[in-house]
Amino acid sequence: MKEKVVLAYSGGLDTSVAIRWIQEKYNADVVTVTVDVGQQEDLAKIESNSKVVGAIRHYSIDAKEEFVENYVHPAVKANALYEGKYPLSTALARPLIVNKLVEVARKEKATAVAHGSTGKGNDQVRFDVSIKVSAPELKIIAPIREWNLSRDEEIKYAEKNGIPIPVSLNRPYSVDQNLWGRSIEAGILEDPAQQPPEEIYEWTVAPEKAPTEPEYVSIGFENGVPVTVNGAKMSPLKIVQTLNAKAGSHGIGRIDHMEDRLVGIKSRECYECPAATVVLDAHKELEKTVLTRHELQFKQQVEAQWTFLVYAGLWMEPLREDLDEFIDKTQERVTGEVKLKLYKGSATVVSRSSPLSLYDANLATYNIETTFDQKWSEGFIEIWALPTKAASILKSKGVK
Ligand code: ARG
Repeated sequence: MKEKVVLAYSGGLDTSVAIRWIQEKYNADVVTVTVDVGQQEDLAKIESNSKVVGAIRHYSIDAKEEFVENYVHPAVKANALYEGKYPLSTALARPLIVNKLVEVARKEKATAVAHGSTGKGNDQVRFDVSIKVSAPELKIIAPIREWNLSRDEEIKYAEKNGIPIPVSLNRPYSVDQNLWGRSIEAGILEDPAQQPPEEIYEWTVAPEKAPTEPEYVSIGFENGVPVTVNGAKMSPLKIVQTLNAKAGSHGIGRIDHMEDRLVGIKSRECYECPAATVVLDAHKELEKTVLTRHELQFKQQVEAQWTFLVYAGLWMEPLREDLDEFIDKTQERVTGEVKLKLYKGSATVVSRSSPLSLYDANLATYNIETTFDQKWSEGFIEIWALPTKAASILKSKGVK
């Protein structure tokens, strides 16, 4: 019997060519898997494509709810923004896709799994590490990395082998989409000095063309995750979809930044992440209302470490789960409502409230009737200045 290889299949040119290449090079049968994480592709078309190219079986797995609940929600609680900008959309989906690949590989008694990542990006690391950790018995095949074909050579190979070439190919961009965001690379974007052309955006209108009237949206949180939009209870998936549409229609969520890939390459990255942008802004603001100064300060360090681990393909590292334990503990009090104003490309928090708010109007007010006695401050400042004063006195004596 032939060996079986389970391939993560997007339906694009790279993974289509990979089906045929694996069959030829490894004399193996190929089973394809497409995991729906909200990429909004035609799944029936993808399935028929995979059969046309020669896969013996295709699995289409709807993992949208699971993606939001088990991957996006932890990222929200961690305020995850890599290098302060990127909400980790692609990075979060990879370990989920690997879980599904491995499930299918075991069911099919396959000996290897395959993915279409190149040898220059983060995705190869995320796929390979997660596979090695969760299924060390499986071989890993990365045809695009191994084969090292140029785009033109790939197209020639596809034409020669009767592999359908997706119409999207006349667009020079490389796109990856899921519910938490859309990433656009290649073409003119590779020149970081050039403004991204309008045509790369699909989920957001140009801020100039956004409605001239602002729209307000309220997001209700319970234990650190969004549970309502404008007071209406919705499933986690529905909330993300609703906010992608709402914020996107106001031109919110466009991100353009210089990113440091794990493999040491700097790259210019463009994203559209409307829901992520508003949810993270609102979540951070609510945390600042309910957590103490010390919790907030310490949590920032935890967040940076969490975000780096996930970006760098280490979702399955125990430290990530250890950090989640801490984060989840803090989120027990992150309940309340945040209202944002959506207007021409920006989302601004205009209101926050929580039954667990630590804000005390009687302390904060500049009115004369306050519970804060200003005399307390004098002694406090005396002590606060002590160490700095001591150092300064030494310095004035010429001692370093
Ligand atoms: N730079 C982002 C990341 O590393 C986006 C990667 C997009 N991946 C892709 N195969 N197009 O997460």
